[in-house]
Amino acid sequence: MTNAHLLEKIQYVIDTEVISKQPNLLYDPIVYSLSQGGKRIRPLLTLMGCELFGGNVEKALYPAVGVEIFHNFTLLHDDIMDQAPIRRGQPTVYKKWNENTAILSGDAMFAMAYDFLIRTDSNFVQRIIQAFNRVAIGVCEGQQYDLDFETQDHVTISEYVNMIRLKTSVLLGGALEIGGIIGHATDSDLKHLYAFGENIGLAFQLQDDWLDAYSDVEKFGKIHGGDIAVNKKTFLYLKALELANDEQSGQLKHYFSSTNFDEKEKFNAVLSIYNDLDISQHTKSEMQKYQDIAMKSLSSVLVSEQAKQPLKTLAENLLIRQN
Ligand code: IPE
Ligand code: IPE
Ligand code: MG
Ligand code: MG
Ligand code: MG
Repeated sequence: MTNAHLLEKIQYVIDTEVISKQPNLLYDPIVYSLSQGGKRIRPLLTLMGCELFGGNVEKALYPAVGVEIFHNFTLLHDDIMDQAPIRRGQPTVYKKWNENTAILSGDAMFAMAYDFLIRTDSNFVQRIIQAFNRVAIGVCEGQQYDLDFETQDHVTISEYVNMIRLKTSVLLGGALEIGGIIGHATDSDLKHLYAFGENIGLAFQLQDDWLDAYSDVEKFGKIHGGDIAVNKKTFLYLKALELANDEQSGQLKHYFSSTNFDEKEKFNAVLSIYNDLDISQHTKSEMQKYQDIAMKSLSSVLVSEQAKQPLKTLAENLLIRQN
C-alpha cells in the first residue's frame, strides 16, 4: 500500500475512535493533540514494519494508532519540561489550558495507548506489550538525561547519543518491531529491523536539533532556538564546544550557564559561533553516518529488495524534512 493510503487508514481510526467526552477538560486536549496531525511517522513505521514481512496491515492498525497516542502523550509532558509554547504551529497543551491539564490528559493518553495496542490477535499481545514497555521506560530514561544535561557542565557526545537513543530512537525502533511482530517476522529479522529504526531515530533527532537552529520558521511549527534558550546539550552545542577556540568556548559556556539572557541576543551569539565552526555541516555528516548504519541493518533483513524500498524511501525523506 502507498504511504498516503496507510496514512489515510491511521487518520480514519484517529477520527472515529479518539473523540471528546466528559469531562471535557480531560478529553479536549487529547483530541486537540491527535487531530493536529504531525507527520505520523511512528504509526506509519508500524504498518510498514508489518507489510515488510507480508503481514496483514489491518491487524497492525490499532497498535499503530496506540503508538501514535503514546507519542502525543510524550509531547504533552515534554512541552512542559522544555517550556515550549508552540507545537505544530499551535499553542502547546499546557499553554492553551494549563500544566495540570497537560499532565492529566497525558496520563489518560498513556493508558489509552495500551487499549489500542492490544486490539489485534491475542497471540501477538504479550510480545507487543513487552516491546512497548521497554520503549516507554527507555523514553523516560532519555527524558531524564535530557533534563539532567541542561545543568550538567560536562556532557560527552557519546552521552548525548545515548540520551537521544533513549528519548527518541527506541520508539522508532519499537514502532517497527511491533509491526514486525504482527507480520510474523523472525527474531533475527526483528533485531535488524529494530536496529534500522534505532539508527534512523538517531539521525531523526539530530535533524530535529538542527531544525531548532536552522529551520524555516514558517514550516517548523515550533519556536526557533528553543533548545538554545533552555540550554539543551544538543549535538550542535557539543560539537561546537569540541571545535571551539578558548574565546568561543568561553562564550558558549557563558551563554549556556543561565536562562536569563535576552533570548534573541543569546540565539544570535550562539548561532554566529555555530556558523564560524561549520556546525550545520558537521551535524549533517553525523546524520549521514547513522543513516548509513540504518541502511546496513535494513539490508540484513531477509526479505526482497522490493519489499524494503518503501522503508528506504521513508528514511531518506526523514532527513530532508522541514518540520
Ligand atoms: C517530535 O517528533 C519529537 C521528537 C522526537 C523530535 P515528531 O517530529 O515526529 O513530531 P510530529 O508528531 O511530527 O509533530
Ligand atoms: C523529544 O525531544 C523527545 C520526546 C518527546 C520523548 P525534543 O524535546 O527535542 O522534541 P521537540 O523538539 O520538543 O519536538
Ligand atoms: Mg525535550
Ligand atoms: Mg521538546
Ligand atoms: Mg527538539
